[in-house]
Amino acid sequence: MNACKSVYDPQEDSTMLERWVRKYAEGNVLDIGTGSGIQAVTAALNPKVSSVLATDVQKEVIAYCKNCIKNRKIKFLQSDLFEKVKGKFDIIIFNPPYLPEDLKLKDLTLDGGKKGYEVIGRFLSGANAFLNPDGVILIVFSSLTKKEKVEEFIKNNLLDFEELERKHIFFEDLYVYLLRKNEFLKKLELKGIKGVKYLSKGHRGVVYTGKYKGKKIAIKATNPNSGAFGRIEIESKWLRRLNKNNIGPKLLFAENNYFAYRYVEGDLIVDFVKKSGRVQIKKILQQVLRQAYLLDSLKIDKEEMHHPVKHIIISKNKPVMIDFERAHYSQSPKNVTQLCQFLASSRLSETLASKGIKTDKNSLMGLAKVYKRNQNIKNFRKIAGLI
Ligand SMILES: C[S@@+](CC[C@H](N)C(=O)[O-])C[C@H]1O[C@@H](n2cnc3c(N)ncnc32)[C@H](O)[C@@H]1O
Repeated sequence: MNACKSVYDPQEDSTMLERWVRKYAEGNVLDIGTGSGIQAVTAALNPKVSSVLATDVQKEVIAYCKNCIKNRKIKFLQSDLFEKVKGKFDIIIFNPPYLPEDLKLKDLTLDGGKKGYEVIGRFLSGANAFLNPDGVILIVFSSLTKKEKVEEFIKNNLLDFEELERKHIFFEDLYVYLLRKNEFLKKLELKGIKGVKYLSKGHRGVVYTGKYKGKKIAIKATNPNSGAFGRIEIESKWLRRLNKNNIGPKLLFAENNYFAYRYVEGDLIVDFVKKSGRVQIKKILQQVLRQAYLLDSLKIDKEEMHHPVKHIIISKNKPVMIDFERAHYSQSPKNVTQLCQFLASSRLSETLASKGIKTDKNSLMGLAKVYKRNQNIKNFRKIAGLI
């Protein structure tokens, strides 16, 4: 039993993980949440290991380890996960706290967050940047942590996993997983994209962020569960076409099943409206309408413009439409008319009214009807004139 209360006495999860550490440890090792130092010491004893960085969020744990463990290969560092970690590693080890809040007393050695998987989620979203291309992660967790959620985090973070061991003890199952970068992540890294992180998932695509040539970018890839293959290639073609008309985020490059574009930093349209003044809002809405009219003139229907809450970002005082997944050619595109529906919708019109911008629903929808029959600049100007 450790004299220091903050130190986790090795349990079944520790010894299970330790056996795999003995097998896989090599090169430069990172042991996150080192506790008693059990994994760090086991790794350091392996002649194939050249260095071990052992971290823990609790400074008492680090003080305890520095005092008790004397091994020239091991360095100790107080850090919340990767916060103060520098460099790349061949193996990253983590026996995380994984119990949901209600199953434990307040205790950092066990507290995995409200649901139990929050610390694991944070760990997995940061790990790639510290792992060498062929490096591995060894992680242990429990059935109390929701295995499906952990696997979702793993996949979202572009990692492949293998279950090395499963053991039933008392009221839970313990799992040891081996994780590696998947082929897609390796491809992105070879292309020079750094710090790839999962951002969001749609029906057809998954979006990641990363850094390319020092600038933040977004990467949209086929969602492996969608079955809608080929859609990503089509969307990148739309973006290339629309960029010529200053619409959409700047496309950087496109490959087989993904494309990369300049990340659009800013506020979603509704948030922008909520926090901006009358003049500023009017200016932006006029620009959005003009872009919608341009799309109509090009006979391109973007779709979903009646509810573009997540698809228009106001960046540097300019609206940028994103997400052209469903764009298609049409003889009667509905961009402007759908946008009128959005402007007249009770939620938005109330917010606009609170800013002194009145959108008379009947007049707006009446003019939208006229425009629908005859999509010309004169009818468009009448709509724009109402805002
Ligand atoms: C279950 S214990 C594992 C200890 C040891 N590695 C083992 O296998 O026995 C979890 C350890 O993670 C540490 N920890 C908890 N949250 C952390 C975080 N955000 N960053 C780094 N360490 C953390 C705790 O202080 C604790 O020492």
